[in-house]
Amino acid sequence: MPSEKLPRVSWLGLGNIGQAVCKNLANYGTTNGPVVVWNRTHQKAADLAAESERFAAVADLTDAVSSTDIVCLCLIDDAAVAEVLETVTRETDVKGKLFVDFSTVHPDTAAAQADTLKSHGAEYLASPIFGGVPLAIERLITIVLAGSSQAIDKFAPFTDGVICKSTIVLADEPCRQASLLKLIGNFIRFSTIEVLCEASVLSEKLGMGQETLCKFVEALIPGPAAGQLRMLNSGSYHREPKPMIPISMAVKENAHLNDLAQRNGVKLKTLETVTHHTNNVTANRGPDANLLAIYGSIREESGLPFEN
Ligand SMILES: NC(=O)c1ccc[n+]([C@@H]2O[C@H](COP(=O)([O-])OP(=O)(O)OC[C@H]3O[C@@H](n4cnc5c(N)ncnc54)[C@H](OP(=O)(O)O)[C@@H]3O)[C@@H](O)[C@H]2O)c1
Repeated sequence: MPSEKLPRVSWLGLGNIGQAVCKNLANYGTTNGPVVVWNRTHQKAADLAAESERFAAVADLTDAVSSTDIVCLCLIDDAAVAEVLETVTRETDVKGKLFVDFSTVHPDTAAAQADTLKSHGAEYLASPIFGGVPLAIERLITIVLAGSSQAIDKFAPFTDGVICKSTIVLADEPCRQASLLKLIGNFIRFSTIEVLCEASVLSEKLGMGQETLCKFVEALIPGPAAGQLRMLNSGSYHREPKPMIPISMAVKENAHLNDLAQRNGVKLKTLETVTHHTNNVTANRGPDANLLAIYGSIREESGLPFEN
């Protein structure tokens, strides 16, 4: 394809996972010119551009958007997404542009952003990510894409084999469905971690070695659950100074899910338990503690030390 027919792409938000996915998009995707990168703290964008000519750093948010056709976002939360898109739609002509949002947000936020951008003649794809930073670096994440099939087709060349292992495509479904799947999917993942933590504590209290429990998990529920149990046993939850998944991310998602459950009359007892432990960790260890520190909290409730 002649290069002028290729889309010009920008990336807003170079946090832990944003930067990993952006690098893969630039290194393995085919774009018209360098990927234009913008970050609230400009130094991160400048550092990336200094690393490789596949990136061009801009300090002004509106320059990133006005100079490109596809605008990817990966921001901390709903408020950041709303703030950035409010600035963009107020100060730039976004007509004809496609916004692809990798941030984890409440389904209502995704729906509101899709509507606002539509009213300005632009399109929005909700594109939440399943998988953490190590998987993102290796292009082994799964993404969910919801929005019009036309918009999905435009972004498809940057998905499987470029930034991710697989894509759950929700073509012509409302954007909110992707956010909802992300929240429900992580509810399943967090609940699995909760059960693994409780089973580990029980095993330890009853004098059954962790290796024995690992053998069971690896034989009967291999894959992510076995990997999580190994992580718990490694003690990384209290050793790593800067976790890749801070407890604040789980708190944000639990709050979104609790809101949806309450508004729709659904009782989620397991979510209550997970929320109790994530809140404990936040209160005692701060919002930057490791998500897996809920293991320490569950240990303490059973009379074991926080550290394993
Ligand atoms: N980390 C994971 O394993 C993971 C996995 C799946 C999904 N996610 C989701 O992906 C998103 C990004 O996660 P991350 O790990 O990259 O987070 P992160 O490392 O904390 O980075 C957050 C990013 O948001 C920017 N930001 C924060 N507030 C802002 C504001 N008001 N205006 C503009 N930019 C703002 C930050 O800019 P500064 O650099 O200036 O602070 C930074 O670029 C989140 O929604 C998260 O839930 C993360």
